[in-house]
Amino acid sequence: MQKRQLGPCVTFFPQPTTLVSSVGSDGQVNVMTASWVGIVSKTPPTMAVSLHMNRRTYRQIRQTGCFVVNLVPADLAVEADYCGLKSGRDEDKLLVAGLTPVPARRVAAPLLDESPLNVECVLREEIELGEYRLLLGEIVEIHAAEKAFTESGSMDARAFDPLVYLGGIREYWDLGRKRADAYAEGKKLFAKKS
Ligand SMILES: Cc1cc2nc3c(=O)[nH]c(=O)nc-3n(C[C@H](O)[C@H](O)[C@H](O)COP(=O)(O)O)c2cc1C
Repeated sequence: MQKRQLGPCVTFFPQPTTLVSSVGSDGQVNVMTASWVGIVSKTPPTMAVSLHMNRRTYRQIRQTGCFVVNLVPADLAVEADYCGLKSGRDEDKLLVAGLTPVPARRVAAPLLDESPLNVECVLREEIELGEYRLLLGEIVEIHAAEKAFTESGSMDARAFDPLVYLGGIREYWDLGRKRADAYAEGKKLFAKKS
């Protein structure tokens, strides 16, 4: 495959599109779009979020020590993009975007009702990365939309309909179609190798 070098940059995809909700020490609730987000440990369950130190969200998380990562469904692409263009320093983004904060179970930051998957995190560690701060949050609760569960109790990815962000290309896509079962399909190569 012939390739073109892009140099040191941040082009990488797919990335999740999330809305990180937080509350300040003054009780102000805010939400921001974040795609530099991911699970980084199972024991303890940990979510990493990388935030520019000027974000209002970063300040609020430092104040109250918690945050919620809300998965953005594809039909909220416009609202999510808006929350990534405006700062909570200047306006109430929840109000403008029509998003509904509801109390979380274990942390002070709220969940977004419109999101089908909400991850409650307690801030455990912070790593300095130039102008960014990598926040490691211990996952203390996850809420998954009831409508996503099949009768057998498994989860149907289509019900979450996650909005996918292509970093570098600056586009939002939806999930596309299922290609294989994970931790399973690769076994077909076991026989070939032995
Ligand atoms: C798709 C998308 C992804 C983004 N991801 C991040 C991110 O991971 N980290 C970050 O610091 N800013 C990210 N931003 C920018 C922030 O969302 C934006 O600066 C926002 O205004 C910050 O809001 P706040 O000041 O209310 O916290 C992203 C923006 C968009 C549109």
